Amino acid sequence: MKKETPLDFPVDDLISQRWSSRAFDPSFFLDEKAMCSLFEAARWAPSCYGDQPWKFIAYNKQDATAWARILNCLSVGNQNWAMDASLLIVVCANTKFNHNGEPNRFGQYDTGAAAENLCLQATSMGLSAHQMGGFNSEKTRELAKVPKDFDIMACIAVGRALNEEDLSVEQKEKESVQRKRKPINEIYSINEWK
Ligand SMILES: Cc1cc2nc3c(=O)[nH]c(=O)nc-3n(C[C@H](O)[C@H](O)[C@H](O)COP(=O)(O)O)c2cc1C
Repeated sequence: MKKETPLDFPVDDLISQRWSSRAFDPSFFLDEKAMCSLFEAARWAPSCYGDQPWKFIAYNKQDATAWARILNCLSVGNQNWAMDASLLIVVCANTKFNHNGEPNRFGQYDTGAAAENLCLQATSMGLSAHQMGGFNSEKTRELAKVPKDFDIMACIAVGRALNEEDLSVEQKEKESVQRKRKPINEIYSINEWK
């Protein structure tokens, strides 16, 4: 389903077409090539010192056992819709620089940039990517064997969003909520903080 983005100024279609669907086509499976395109997009994100502090752990629904385990790490509210996605991705950020082992205060910033690259790549491929903070971090760390030097930032559900005509009444109600943002003059100012 496409969703209207009320723009005050023009932006690239890729930006306005990305949104976080909660209604995925349960019959859709993502092949490895498509999955790798998502990670390729993440790979080319900028990072402090070119350090690439991100690490992504992917769970494809085709591997039903592993899929069920990661799904179980999500909050119940997220499980309800993420179960129909095709791919679940655990997003991790290195707290230390790869090149010298010193603390990296940009690790989370850079990983967020890589995650957004991934989400936009999904949009460009006709897919939908939905980031989540609602998951059990300890359970996820144990399951995915994430080393302690990495923070677990988010999970991302990726899949093919259902067409509007295929949504249930309940899904339609949730999916048709209007997109909203702060006014643009609240998010930037010129020369000094206002
Ligand atoms: C770090 C992060 C955590 C989020 N956590 C959740 C979540 O647990 N569950 C959920 O349904 N959406 C979650 N979202 C999605 C946001 O609610 C969504 O991005 C926001 O409402 C803006 O909508 P849009 O992505 O469609 O533009 C999260 C997004 C981000 C970036």
